Amino acid sequence: MPESKRAKAVAGTNIALVKYWGKRDTALNLPATGSLSLTLAGLGSETSVRFAHDAGGSDGRDRVLFGGEPAWPLFANRVRRFLDLVRALAKIDLPAEVATVNTVPTAAGLASSASGFAALALAASRAAGLRLSPAELSALARRGSGSAARSIVGGFAEMAAGTRKDGSDAYAHSIADENAWDVRLCVAMTAAGEKTVGSTAAMALTERTSPYYAAWLSTVPGDVAEAKAAILARDLARLGSVAERSATRMHAAALAAEPSILYWNPATLAAIATLKELRAGGTSAYFTIDAGPHVKALCVSADAAKVAAALAATPGVVRVLTVAPGPGAQIMSED
Ligand code: PMV
Repeated sequence: MPESKRAKAVAGTNIALVKYWGKRDTALNLPATGSLSLTLAGLGSETSVRFAHDAGGSDGRDRVLFGGEPAWPLFANRVRRFLDLVRALAKIDLPAEVATVNTVPTAAGLASSASGFAALALAASRAAGLRLSPAELSALARRGSGSAARSIVGGFAEMAAGTRKDGSDAYAHSIADENAWDVRLCVAMTAAGEKTVGSTAAMALTERTSPYYAAWLSTVPGDVAEAKAAILARDLARLGSVAERSATRMHAAALAAEPSILYWNPATLAAIATLKELRAGGTSAYFTIDAGPHVKALCVSADAAKVAAALAATPGVVRVLTVAPGPGAQIMSED
């Protein structure tokens, strides 16, 4: 391997329309079920990685920068553990310098771990001299964050739970690319309430204590199949119905945990009501909600301005972003 190889990659975040909630293996970060998502344009992460003898900090460990500043320890250590996987794959023993910039607006409440680990998987594997297939790259990104596996793929992506113990069949593949269907996601950010519980801890608590977890799992394969058929038919009402029931069932399972996990706030409910009113008035828009209080509405691009305006006028909604489907993770530069 040539000394001091640097690679820079970009990836967009993604929003699940059929949710992932629960793991079949925590060490390998294997999902208990499949999921299906839309990768977004313009909201994501740019990450550069360089492996070299002089790339580490004064302590010899990987140097991890976020937004140009040294990253906070929890994040830096998560990145270092991920780099250990790449070093093991590439059979190298060099420290790295990693610099990540997020293009997700600060406090947007959009998961940046999906785009962050997708960009990191691509940049780090290339910088380490590896040329992974899209499936291998997706499986690698999954080790950083379950949802990151889907950001390797553009447009609509299906994540397979897989059955193999080593997780080699748990990766995402394309259902329809980013140009296949002119849809938009209107992201309504609601005033964040108390700090909520992170997805890994919340999934573990749901698995351990929610009497509805098994019921939730049993619904997912049917929802993935239905969402896929709806995408292939470009049937928004059908896809929207699946997305809404997947989100409400995921939240119902979490809500039934002990102690209960409640991500919603009053503005979350108000935004849902706004979308139902829009539908009653003939404008199709359907919600999904992740591990937080924000509401993401799926609609066709011709309706996006109207949907965004209605969400912006909803009490408690502080900001609305309208986002188009985007490409999968890509290399920006290599030297
Ligand atoms: O990838 P994680 O561990 O941040 O989990 C993602 C969980 C949800 O965003 C709520 C659902 C999903 O499928 O993205």
